[in-house]
Amino acid sequence: ADEQAYYREAIGEQLKAHNAVLVAHYYCDPLLQSLAEETGGCVADSLEMARFGSQSNAQTLVVAGVRFMGETAKILSPHKRVLMPTLEATCSLDLGCPVYELSALCDQHPERTLVVYANTSAAVKAQADWVVTSSCALEIVESLMDNGEKILWAPDKHLGRYIQQQTGADMLFWDGACIVHEEFKSRQLEDMRALYPDAAVLVHPESPDTVVALADAVGSTSQLIKAAQTLPNSTFIVATDRGIFYKMQQLCPDKTFIAAPTAGNGATCRSCASCPWMAMNTLQRTLECLTQGKGEVLVDPALIPRAMRPLERMLDFTQ
Ligand code: 13P
Ligand code: SF4
Repeated sequence: ADEQAYYREAIGEQLKAHNAVLVAHYYCDPLLQSLAEETGGCVADSLEMARFGSQSNAQTLVVAGVRFMGETAKILSPHKRVLMPTLEATCSLDLGCPVYELSALCDQHPERTLVVYANTSAAVKAQADWVVTSSCALEIVESLMDNGEKILWAPDKHLGRYIQQQTGADMLFWDGACIVHEEFKSRQLEDMRALYPDAAVLVHPESPDTVVALADAVGSTSQLIKAAQTLPNSTFIVATDRGIFYKMQQLCPDKTFIAAPTAGNGATCRSCASCPWMAMNTLQRTLECLTQGKGEVLVDPALIPRAMRPLERMLDFTQ
């Protein structure tokens, strides 16, 4: 506890000294989430992290999340310094979608509008017509469909399929997945629901379709937190990274939140639904990036204007 207090105080001082704000994702260590809130930064989903960073007057943004979130912040604010506790924190969706392979697929389908999930590299964003997050993917695809556009979707096939089922849009999918959400198991989730018949099931749409089919609410991290607040149930089974429990419990102190099963053996494995890359964001690394200037996010300046366009389009659309 003493160590935590030391880091929190030291990070707070460093943020002030560097005119910096801490922008954290809901999957980060609760200690970082609370620190971000207490020091004038924010804790948010990936869409609102992007918006907050671009609107902030701070000179330095410290992004506690994964690489694509730091890159998005830099692309939207090329003149700000963007630091991350570690640059090693990546995402299986980003890793599984190299730009040269995606470009080859685009060349085969020039008539399709390329819509990419925010969980991608700057180079992939620079190729895209639209960038979306799970908060706004449905409404953006709906509007493209109303325009008669056919879509090439990358990289998350589960989110893509969910959007297609909801909208009926003509979509071609890249074969990518989130290694964390892909582990949720529908059969074990049904068993758990039988044990807690009054519970509502909350599912992030990066999960397999059989898991999404059991959901009472499907949505981005912020939308799931909203559902926890607004649904009348007192118990919730939650299929997303366990970092989200901090905010849910804080906003709904009288409700009970249970982790959805990830293990194939029927056991609930609390430690499984945890993104290994998000977990790399520690208090110590956060302090070090500020004191030593380590972990500065740099994006190829040649990519920035092209990657900025679809990101700004997304922010404008969702204003
Ligand atoms: P949100 O946009 O819902 O915050 O999700 C980001 C993410 O990486 C989910 O795994
Ligand atoms: Fe990527 Fe999944 Fe981790 Fe989100 S939880 S950052 S989608 S690997």
